[in-house]
Amino acid sequence: MTQAQNPRPRADFQPCSTDLPKADQPMTPAQKQLVQTSFARLAPSADDVGEMFYRELFVLDPHLRKLFKSDIAQQGRNLMGALSTTIANLDQLESIAPALLDRGRRHTIYGVKPADYQTGARALIATLEKGLGSDFTPALREAWASCYRALAGEMMAGAEKRKRVPQPRPLLGLH
Ligand code: HEM
Repeated sequence: MTQAQNPRPRADFQPCSTDLPKADQPMTPAQKQLVQTSFARLAPSADDVGEMFYRELFVLDPHLRKLFKSDIAQQGRNLMGALSTTIANLDQLESIAPALLDRGRRHTIYGVKPADYQTGARALIATLEKGLGSDFTPALREAWASCYRALAGEMMAGAEKRKRVPQPRPLLGLH
């Protein structure tokens, strides 16, 4: 059997509890509170946390860098803002679902693929691990993984819907 048929596991591959999709387990009230409290702790250094996320993301997959046209510091603020809205609405995610679906649709236009959400999950967990240090307990990790799954799951559902929408045909059959 060749190596291609029986690839050896990559030494740097760590099975991660953020593996997607797995959005069927809703967050428990305790998990929501853990995420809200830890996010509030990061709020004073939100800009640094946002930038750290992108550093982690580009280390995990340098090819993703070229998808970003705007300033990464600004993008970090966009991400933290989006996380903040989601985390404030964990008890009524349905109220922000249309916005998440739309964001997911836009992400397909940016060139984001479903597998990139997995990389995003790893980058987020690595960022939180560094930002929260020993406070980042296994329970907190699982709570954040669950939160990310809900958020990314909704965005990916939006991306999936966009693929199924028939593209408008040119009126005069022009190419
Ligand atoms: C699930 C968590 C994510 C959240 C909350 C999020 C949030 C955002 C927000 C708020 C924006 C600003 C523009 C907009 O709303 O359309 C944005 C843009 C963008 N995001 Fe995400 N994103 C996520 C995951 C990802 C992932 C995994 C990638 C993969 C590379 C990605 C790549 C991008 C790109 C390329 C842009 C456009 C940046 C530019 O124009 O320079 N995002 N994202």
